[in-house]
Amino acid sequence: MKTINIAIDGPAGAGKSTIAKMVSAEMGYIYVDTGAMYRAVALYLTENNIPDEEAEKHMEEVEVSLKFADGVQRVYLGDRDVSDLIRTPEISMAASRTSAIPAVRARLFDLQQKLARENNIIMDGRDIGTVVLPNADVKIFLTASAEERANRRFKELAEKPDCPTYEEILKDIIQRDYNDMNRETAPLKQAEDAVLVDTTELTLEQSAARIAEIIKERV
Ligand code: DC
Repeated sequence: MKTINIAIDGPAGAGKSTIAKMVSAEMGYIYVDTGAMYRAVALYLTENNIPDEEAEKHMEEVEVSLKFADGVQRVYLGDRDVSDLIRTPEISMAASRTSAIPAVRARLFDLQQKLARENNIIMDGRDIGTVVLPNADVKIFLTASAEERANRRFKELAEKPDCPTYEEILKDIIQRDYNDMNRETAPLKQAEDAVLVDTTELTLEQSAARIAEIIKERV
């Protein structure tokens, strides 16, 4: 049976994962966060002191897998659940570099395509509509200004100890945008047939409603 595949791409902090989670729960689809896979590979390389230049040689031994409990994705390295460990600023920046390595992308590409073949999914990332699922049923490119994305992130982190400043967060976002858009393999860009949604002026609920509407119109 043909599965339904929805691709959501866009820069860091545009709200892809929060919105995709809301919409997939509503529609009964599985939500696949591909950024978490790149983060897991980055964690593996960091923990094992493997420099990026040597990553290719180690790709066979990296076992990234996803498990879903009540629609919630958990990421595993071997049999270790690393879902929380991959959410640090260090791993965010490391993943941005790791994801530029073609051998890393090739390794995760197969896993992502298999998930899409076997399940109705909403998959988010940077190259889902352009490279991983070029025939997706619906493609959305979700974005917001860098300042607004930094602002949201700052509010999210404000309660936590060691919260970075707004300026530090903005600098990180601009750097990651640059890395993601300028790498040679599968750079972040809007697919020609993707619908652009700019959430700078929208609340989370408005953004989720807009995306659910776009999906329902097409599926
Ligand atoms: O979405 P995220 O911040 O968790 O992603 C972490 C990094 O992985 C990000 O810098 C870009 C990269 N990434 C990618 O290159 N391709 C994807 N499909 C998803 C993420």
